[in-house]
Amino acid sequence: MTTVSPLTPEQFRLQFPALDDAPHFASCSQGALSDRLAHTMQRMTAGLIDSQAPWGEWVGKVEQYRSLAGAFLDVDSEHVAVLSCASEGAFQTVSSLDWSGERNRLVTSDLEFPSVGNVWRAQRSGIDVVNVEGIEAALHAENWIALIDERTKLVSIPLVSYINGTRPEIERVIAHAHSVGALVFVDAYQAAGVLPFSATELDCDFLVTGNLKYLLGLPGIAMLYVKDCVGVEHPAGLTGWFGRVNPFAFDAAGVDYPDNARRFEMGTHPIPSAYAGVAGFETVSQVDPDTVWNHVVGLRERLAEELGSLGFDLDYPEDAAHRGPQVAIRVEDPDALSAKLATHRIGGSPRGERLRLSLHAYSADRDIDALVKALRA
Ligand SMILES: Cc1ncc(COP(=O)(O)O)c(C=O)c1O
Repeated sequence: MTTVSPLTPEQFRLQFPALDDAPHFASCSQGALSDRLAHTMQRMTAGLIDSQAPWGEWVGKVEQYRSLAGAFLDVDSEHVAVLSCASEGAFQTVSSLDWSGERNRLVTSDLEFPSVGNVWRAQRSGIDVVNVEGIEAALHAENWIALIDERTKLVSIPLVSYINGTRPEIERVIAHAHSVGALVFVDAYQAAGVLPFSATELDCDFLVTGNLKYLLGLPGIAMLYVKDCVGVEHPAGLTGWFGRVNPFAFDAAGVDYPDNARRFEMGTHPIPSAYAGVAGFETVSQVDPDTVWNHVVGLRERLAEELGSLGFDLDYPEDAAHRGPQVAIRVEDPDALSAKLATHRIGGSPRGERLRLSLHAYSADRDIDALVKALRA
């Protein structure tokens, strides 16, 4: 049996031919385009000529995506629902729980992306949403622990915050939540593909992430891991024919629910994004996850140092344990700075009052050199 050795970051970068001409610091928004992704999408559309309605292949692609997602998250793929976005994952989660009793508290924080925070607050079922205030305060477990007690049904925490790439003390929060009987929902979007984790080791109850960012696919697809698919209190709020035991029975009057995460699914899956998602998983799996993270940490420290010496106001935690895959700088007009960098063909990601600069396995010192040169200019 031949084993394929993992690629080094330099070898990995060769699959992203645009990078030397266009340094990419926007992976926290959309990952760089790999050759594999470009070819996959071409082949997908060509398939429509060979077979006008390739449902068998499409369903197979979704199942391949589910299986790769399970392996990536380190869970049984039967516990992975294939959805279109993280917001859907949050809605399916919250609507599958019973909020009518005394345990009706949902603890969240200022670290949350709106997809998740908005869904928690938009429910009409009397949920007592309690917020850990302040993006710095939310990094520390004690500020969560103070709010999580026997009234708490669900705790929602990101692995990495989209705001500035920081990492809260998630393990301590999860352990405390479970000790008082609360469930935990993790948004892993800003970690998946760059910061190694295992949903099994995290021991969370729900976890959502998707493929457009560090997982090197395209928008339109997301995965929801559910630890106890049949233990949820209600059928989730949205359903459709792919939420049935046998979708191809075409039984409009028969609403049954499979004993696995497919019960959280709806209508036709996001097929083109499933092709892209599979390509992304295959691309990322060519590098060892710890090698990716060590590479990113090395570059991130250099990037922070360079930005600091250029006089930028860094939003960068003192404690390295809270640092993630990006360096955020506070600037007066992040959109204008990003537009200026774009004239040098450098991609960054402006959000609110920050410009976020993120790193991946394909990033290299020469990207930072080009960025520094452009910022000086
Ligand atoms: C942490 C986080 N969660 C979720 C999302 C996306 O949510 P959705 O798939 O609902 O658009 C993003 C970014 O787009 C994000 O940064």
